[in-house]
Amino acid sequence: MKRRVFSGIQPSEVIHIGNYIGAVKRWVALQDDPAKDNIYCVVDLHALTVKQDPEVLRERTLELLALFLAVGLDPAKSTLFVQSHVSANAEGAWLLNCVTPESWLKKMTQYKDKSAKQAERGREGTVLTGLLDYPVLMAADILFYDTHEVPVGEDQKQHVELARNIAERFNYHYGETFIVPEPVIAKAGARIMGLDDPTVKMSKSMAHVQGHAIRLLDEPKQIERAIMRSKTDSGSEIRFSADPAKAGVNNLLTIYQVLTGKTRDEVEQDFASARGYGDLKKRVAEVVIAEAEPVRKRFAEIATDRGELERIMRIGADKARAISEPRLADVKRKMGLLLPM
Ligand code: AMP
Ligand code: TRP
Repeated sequence: MKRRVFSGIQPSEVIHIGNYIGAVKRWVALQDDPAKDNIYCVVDLHALTVKQDPEVLRERTLELLALFLAVGLDPAKSTLFVQSHVSANAEGAWLLNCVTPESWLKKMTQYKDKSAKQAERGREGTVLTGLLDYPVLMAADILFYDTHEVPVGEDQKQHVELARNIAERFNYHYGETFIVPEPVIAKAGARIMGLDDPTVKMSKSMAHVQGHAIRLLDEPKQIERAIMRSKTDSGSEIRFSADPAKAGVNNLLTIYQVLTGKTRDEVEQDFASARGYGDLKKRVAEVVIAEAEPVRKRFAEIATDRGELERIMRIGADKARAISEPRLADVKRKMGLLLPM
């Protein structure tokens, strides 16, 4: 039997090189593994956990689907769908809410960080129930699709572990039902850091800050500028290092490593005769642009074909329903709901 792979990404902001390296690029590679059955989701319901402009959210949802296609996700190989198009995900989240202790949710690092940041903004920063419940919706995404593997970046590991706990708890109370999923985190590139501050994770919410992120759809000039200005240190040694002072160089080397597919030794060899960080930055910029430029060009073609995007969304949602609805009915029955005749 094939192993089911499920992952998702929010249509908030345009995706950056951290999302690409930590998640999306790996999804593209998984498509060609005959042992996997892949599902990738634009999680628009998750985006609603913080304030959104309705028109912008709709645009971003279509854009993200177009970007999926532009990076090489293929609806003939993977199931690609929009989360809100399949009601099983939100319905499943409600059912899982009723087996999930609230104390588990209050302990989530992302919730603690995001809610604290929002609270700082005073009245505008009301923390919504959806933000607390976000990991349960994510658990529903994973569990109702009988998922074995969840390829995500480091920051989502805790949420996948929560999904495991929910699955185990459900199975204990109602009998063997859910597959207990595993997070699959890459060895290199699971946590790409900000270019302006290599001590913090590159994040979408900061993507608008000049010099913080490389967005996948940035023009070559913008990419080059962001990398050339990225924060390094006053030294000149180009090697991988866990030393916090060398985090900037380490981050650039990691980006280079993942995009070239080389080993750490090979990467360090490549820079053995470099004359300082200027050379390093130039090479990294070239490699990033070589990866991003074809994506930007394909995106420009695909994004304008609204009819084709709609067709792909419809097919994806049908496939997704066929997988999740039987599991949803099974869970409802086990929990004591009367199924409609
Ligand atoms: P999000 O931006 O929260 O929708 O994240 C989408 C995917 O990108 C998830 O799998 C994240 O774990 C991953 N991701 C987000 N930021 C980074 C980062 N800085 N480095 C590596 N992976 C990331
Ligand atoms: N919460 C994830 C993030 O922001 C996105 C996500 C939603 C997801 N549902 C998922 C990832 C299911 C993996 C599996 O990155």
